[in-house]
Amino acid sequence: MSRLQHLLELMCSVLIFAELISGNNDDMEVLIELKGFLQAHNQINRGAYDGWLESEASPCNWQGVGCDMNGRVSSLDLSSSSISGPFFGNFSGLKSLIHLDLSDNSIIGELPVDLNRCLGLKHLNLSYNLIGGVLNISSLTKLRTLDVSRNRFEGGIGMNFLATCDELTILNISSNNLRGNIVGLLDNCSWLEYVDLSLNHFTGQVTQGIASLIQFNAAENALTGSIALDMFPEGCKLLFLDLSSNYLFGNLPNSIANCSSLTYLSLSGNGFDGQIPPGIGVIPGLQKLILGSNNFAREMPFSLMNCTALKYLDISNNGFGGEVQGFFGKLESLTHLILHSNNYTDGIVSSGILRLPKLIMLDLSLNRFFGKLPTEVAIMTSIKYLVLAENNFSGQIPPVYGQIAQLQILDLSYNHLSGGVPADIGNLSSLLVLMLAGNQLSGEIPKEIGNCTSLLWLNLAENKLSGQIPPEIAGVGRDPSPTFARNQKDAAQLEIGTRKCLSVMRWIPLGYPGFNYVESEMSWKDCRSLEDRILKGYGIVTPPSVQPCIILGYVRFSGNLLSGQIPPMISAMRNFNLLLLDDNLLAGVLPSEISQMSLVVLNISRNIISGEIPSEIGQMVLLETLDMSFNNFSNELPSSLNQLYKLSKFNVSYNSLLSGNVPSTGQLSTFDEQSFLGDPLLSLHFIDHGPCLESNNDELSTEGTEKDPAKEEAMVLIISFIVFFFATIAIREHDSFMYVYYTMKCRCASAKIFAEL
Ligand SMILES: *[C@@H]1O[C@H](CO)[C@@H](O)[C@H](O)[C@H]1NC(C)=O
Ligand SMILES: *[C@@H]1O[C@H](CO)[C@@H](O)[C@H](O)[C@H]1NC(C)=O
Ligand SMILES: *[C@@H]1O[C@H](CO)[C@@H](O)[C@H](O)[C@H]1NC(C)=O
Ligand SMILES: *[C@@H]1O[C@H](CO)[C@@H](O)[C@H](O)[C@H]1NC(C)=O
Ligand SMILES: *[C@@H]1O[C@H](CO)[C@@H](O)[C@H](O)[C@H]1NC(C)=O
Ligand SMILES: *[C@@H]1O[C@H](CO)[C@@H](O)[C@H](O)[C@H]1NC(C)=O
Ligand SMILES: *[C@@H]1O[C@H](CO)[C@@H](O)[C@H](O)[C@H]1NC(C)=O
Ligand SMILES: *[C@@H]1O[C@H](CO)[C@@H](O)[C@H](O)[C@H]1NC(C)=O
Ligand SMILES: *[C@@H]1O[C@H](CO)[C@@H](O)[C@H](O)[C@H]1NC(C)=O
Ligand SMILES: *[C@@H]1O[C@H](CO)[C@@H](O)[C@H](O)[C@H]1NC(C)=O
Ligand SMILES: *[C@@H]1O[C@H](CO)[C@@H](O)[C@H](O)[C@H]1NC(C)=O
Ligand SMILES: *[C@@H]1O[C@H](CO)[C@@H](O)[C@H](O)[C@H]1NC(C)=O
Repeated sequence: MSRLQHLLELMCSVLIFAELISGNNDDMEVLIELKGFLQAHNQINRGAYDGWLESEASPCNWQGVGCDMNGRVSSLDLSSSSISGPFFGNFSGLKSLIHLDLSDNSIIGELPVDLNRCLGLKHLNLSYNLIGGVLNISSLTKLRTLDVSRNRFEGGIGMNFLATCDELTILNISSNNLRGNIVGLLDNCSWLEYVDLSLNHFTGQVTQGIASLIQFNAAENALTGSIALDMFPEGCKLLFLDLSSNYLFGNLPNSIANCSSLTYLSLSGNGFDGQIPPGIGVIPGLQKLILGSNNFAREMPFSLMNCTALKYLDISNNGFGGEVQGFFGKLESLTHLILHSNNYTDGIVSSGILRLPKLIMLDLSLNRFFGKLPTEVAIMTSIKYLVLAENNFSGQIPPVYGQIAQLQILDLSYNHLSGGVPADIGNLSSLLVLMLAGNQLSGEIPKEIGNCTSLLWLNLAENKLSGQIPPEIAGVGRDPSPTFARNQKDAAQLEIGTRKCLSVMRWIPLGYPGFNYVESEMSWKDCRSLEDRILKGYGIVTPPSVQPCIILGYVRFSGNLLSGQIPPMISAMRNFNLLLLDDNLLAGVLPSEISQMSLVVLNISRNIISGEIPSEIGQMVLLETLDMSFNNFSNELPSSLNQLYKLSKFNVSYNSLLSGNVPSTGQLSTFDEQSFLGDPLLSLHFIDHGPCLESNNDELSTEGTEKDPAKEEAMVLIISFIVFFFATIAIREHDSFMYVYYTMKCRCASAKIFAEL
């Protein structure tokens, strides 16, 4: 080697080194700018970026920052960093950036043009944010992974979005507001393996290319047409196919047999008809088959018997009927069997399904089963969720149901069951949900029910139960944590089945605070995560990320013949927020101890409770609904009720001996005379009736209300508009909205609960 060469080489290295250093500095500058930008928009909660030290020589050791061999920043992970505010506009300053993860934050606004200059990006994860506008990343031709799921992107994704997908292998654009025809969309993406388009508004037909994917999810869109025979050619690679909740119709072609690797197949919520193709029976590894809410023909192919790996089978809402087919009893791997909303009448025992050794969940609700409840249920070794509601079962609840130690949900509601609630129910210490509403059950509520220490959702409404509420009720739901802990350890296991969350809707006291949002249309995904969260004790908060929160427990005994006094012991109940005892024959005084419960809703309407309304009720600051109408309350309406600042529904109508004044200011003044009907001794001091006002009420005219009716009307209009606006948002965006709502609520509720402990 000559000296010159040496010198040149040396110079070269120096140059490269200098370049490296300066490049590195450039990167550092961008990151410092980024840090400042994030800090400016996030004054309180900050992620790890807050600890990035500018004094360090290189950013490569900063948390979330990764560098390549040249010391240039190649990856940036700011996921779950509590970031809110707009998208940072200078990522393109990081010239070597390959991997950018901003998932699980609250970034708002639109994508900046700058992102399209990050030409080296191979992995981009923006999922779980609030980013809207058009999804335009047409210059990012090197992308291999793109995940923008759970955002608010809208508009069509046309050719210029995916014309560039040469190297894309994972595409997840689920849960946005994207639209457009999917035909041809993926044609040029020859490396694609995982595609999730679910929960958007895509139209068009399912096309052939899907057979070369490993995963295709287009659930909850507006796809139409039928599925052609050649959709599943030989060599089909699909492992996971979800086309549920679209407008597909026609036969499912038998060529599905070519997709011999399938483990998950969901076609629920479409208009498929004809026979379930026998070809499904030759897919050896099929674990989940979800065909609910279609019009499949009654005859079931016997080949399904060969699906020995099948764990989850849902053929609900299809018009299957007669006897439960015998081959279900041969699917020994089944853990979930969901047959609800069909026309089955018989065959529960003869089909052998009660002997399936691994069955965790059996949902036979909304069929036409009749006769006595099967006692054979008692020998089921794995069953946790037993749903026999809305059939025509009659006779008694067999005491042997109390033997199923692992049972967590027992739903026998809306049948024609009679006799008593067996005391053996008290042996079910894992029980979380007991639904016996809408039967003809009589006798007393057994005191042993107090041994159900996990029971949080207890509904015995609309029966003929009589006698006193046992004081032992205080033990119900005292400590569900062992059950929750077990469920948290297990992988997801409760999956109620297709679409409408039918069962969960039955368990939830719809229309009450804390639960009313569930009424708005729920997507299937939300429904599943809701169920999952309930069973794991995380409350009904979505998304799952932040703070676990206690479930709102409820007791509903409405519409029975219960008598005697409400036991003061009830105050010892833990974890309950709704107490619905309306429409019974409860008498005596309302025990003041009830104020120690963390109630959000108390309905004791339509009983014969007398004496005074305990002033301690004013301490129940979480109360949003308080209905004491149609009782015999007397004495003065306690002024402490005015402290219930969250109260939005209040009714003391038809307590003819109730006296005193309704204050003209404070919370009670927000209710109109509908809350005080039929209380002749009560003086109402609060309403500006305009011309209807009697002139003798001097106090009222002085105490003011120089209220201008027109102004007030305008206020009402404005308030209605605001409420409507938020309600609309809440329905559309109930994830994030409810999340905030519940987080707030949970904080209060648990704070209260902890304060009491
Ligand atoms: C980004 O860089 C440009 C210059 O390249 C600068 O003007 C701008 O302030 C930077 N910051 C943001 C947040 O865009
Ligand atoms: C994107 O981030 C989310 C949340 O952090 C994560 O669940 C998801 O798996 C990531 N996506 C990909 C494709 O890795
Ligand atoms: C997408 O962005 C590129 C580059 O920023 C621009 O040229 C193109 O017009 C945009 N396309 C759409 C549909 O907005
Ligand atoms: C696929 O690529 C070809 C050739 O590059 C192009 O003409 C065509 O428009 C692309 N199709 C789509 C759907 O992007
Ligand atoms: C989006 O889908 C991909 C591919 O199935 C998956 O890896 C990723 O975890 C999904 N993202 C989220 C946020 O679930
Ligand atoms: C598998 O696909 C081929 C065409 O590729 C078709 O001829 C054959 O019938 C399919 N198999 C089944 C079981 O339908
Ligand atoms: C199940 O599979 C076996 C062997 O693969 C076959 O002989 C039998 O006919 C199949 N049963 C049905 C009902 O298709
Ligand atoms: C059950 O059968 C009745 C009459 O036979 C019919 O009206 C009803 O639609 C059927 N229900 C289902 C879910 O198919
Ligand atoms: C339910 O069963 C009762 C007898 O137990 C019978 O009178 C009634 O007709 C049945 N109802 C239906 C809808 O089948
Ligand atoms: C319930 O427990 C009690 C007391 O441990 C026992 O006597 C009774 O047989 C049990 N009932 C059932 C159905 O297991
Ligand atoms: C069940 O409840 C009864 C009556 O309340 C009580 O005597 C008994 O000790 C309880 N059994 C268990 C196992 O807790
Ligand atoms: C309380 O129960 C009564 C009687 O069942 C019912 O009419 C009323 O609507 C309930 N009140 C509220 C606020 O839900």
